[in-house]
Amino acid sequence: MVSRVIPVDPFDLVIFGGTGDLAQRKILPALFRRFCAGQWVDGAQIIGAARTGYDSNGFRDVVRESLKTHAAKQCQDVSALESFLRRLDYVALDGVSDEGWGHLARRLKPGRVRAFYFSVGPRLFGPLAERIEAHGLITPLTRIVVEKPFGHDLDSAQALNATLAAHFTENQIYRIDHYLGKETVQNLMAVRFGNMLFEPLWNSQYVDHIQITVAESVGIDGREEYYDRAGAMRDMMQNHLMQLLCLIAMEPPAKFDPDAVRDEKLKVIRALDPVEPHHIVRGQFEGEGSGYRQVVGNERSTTESYVALKAHVSNWRWAGTPFYLRTGKRLVARSSVINVMFKDAPHSIFGADAGRHANVLSIRLQPNEGITLKVTIKEPGPGGMRLVDVPLDMSFAEALGPENQDPPDAYERLVMDVIRGNQTLFMRGDEVEAAWAWTDPIIAGWQARGDVPKPYDSGSTGPGDAELLMKRDGRRWQGINP
Ligand code: BG6
Repeated sequence: MVSRVIPVDPFDLVIFGGTGDLAQRKILPALFRRFCAGQWVDGAQIIGAARTGYDSNGFRDVVRESLKTHAAKQCQDVSALESFLRRLDYVALDGVSDEGWGHLARRLKPGRVRAFYFSVGPRLFGPLAERIEAHGLITPLTRIVVEKPFGHDLDSAQALNATLAAHFTENQIYRIDHYLGKETVQNLMAVRFGNMLFEPLWNSQYVDHIQITVAESVGIDGREEYYDRAGAMRDMMQNHLMQLLCLIAMEPPAKFDPDAVRDEKLKVIRALDPVEPHHIVRGQFEGEGSGYRQVVGNERSTTESYVALKAHVSNWRWAGTPFYLRTGKRLVARSSVINVMFKDAPHSIFGADAGRHANVLSIRLQPNEGITLKVTIKEPGPGGMRLVDVPLDMSFAEALGPENQDPPDAYERLVMDVIRGNQTLFMRGDEVEAAWAWTDPIIAGWQARGDVPKPYDSGSTGPGDAELLMKRDGRRWQGINP
């Protein structure tokens, strides 16, 4: 099945930090892929802005090299590549002084969508926002895009929100959590709210528990300084895993529109109970010469590279159904999966020998995106009623054709949503604050107790205590399979 592409109107997109890692690795390749898909063509321009003194051709050369690595397939079409590069421009500009801003202002065209992508550290958010306003660049079609980390805790997130709110309205602010742009994450909503089959069972009466696993095989190389200040709780749990939890747990919104969806997500975060200290396991990877502490160059670091916890959403739908969340670096495989573990049938008519069987709905985010429903059937052949669990498997690549083998990168969807003006897959300020309000006491508790993370071997499934967290409840994690 070939996906339909609905072209967007011409736009101006300014990427502050345009020569930086995120712009080169994610944003520009995403724009190029959308360009090749025919989503935007005429008239649009992308302006890289940074302190480095390139001219436009110098910037294009840098982007050409990045695209060869990060959009290798599309780069095979040399004329598309050159045509894309011609739409790029560059302005040398200082975020903390007025230098270069007049130049930028002259490049922007009136009457069209004008997006400013803050691909820079949060300390520049304020100075950039101020200058955008001071130079008269805010129009009714102006939007800004900001990346995580959106704050380090509740206080800093509130301060950032206040800084941005001094210049922009909430519907002009697009806070990216790139997990929301992943194809399967959006599919989660399609599966839940587009089918009659699942929603009636989607509650504590039928669901025993839910597991959300975001396992990474990569470490933290190149980001040591940031990561050692953040840790897995701030880097992944407070945002990506919580967003997944919200989409699983939320009530059906009345419409698929930004505020309806975000209102429902917010209610989930607010319904989360504080997490009991004995319901959390922190871990730190070890490895011969390449353990966490060696990598960050601090033999005493107590930052966690792994966290697993048991959360409760205290509302009518979920009372009594725990959510187990885990994420970590340098694990056995890269694998992000949500498993909805249904309860056993109330009575087995096949007797004790048939064993216990329960349905599992697995939503695979990456790799091998797809959805599997494990159902129980009779093992073929004579000799009695033996039961066996088999997967009803819907791999998107198989079900929708080979062109869906490589789903679009999350940034493709999200950057185009900014241009279209659709905030559904972006976090609202109050959501981010509520997520920090839940996270902060957990981190404060570790600090107060002087908690030291449990070591785990690189290439393993994480610390043994995470298994115990489940075992104590008579449950176990599903495997981490690539
Ligand atoms: C980022 C985190 O937000 O997400 C990284 O800062 C993490 O630490 C990354 O590696 C994971 O994203 P993905 O899309 O590779 O699963």
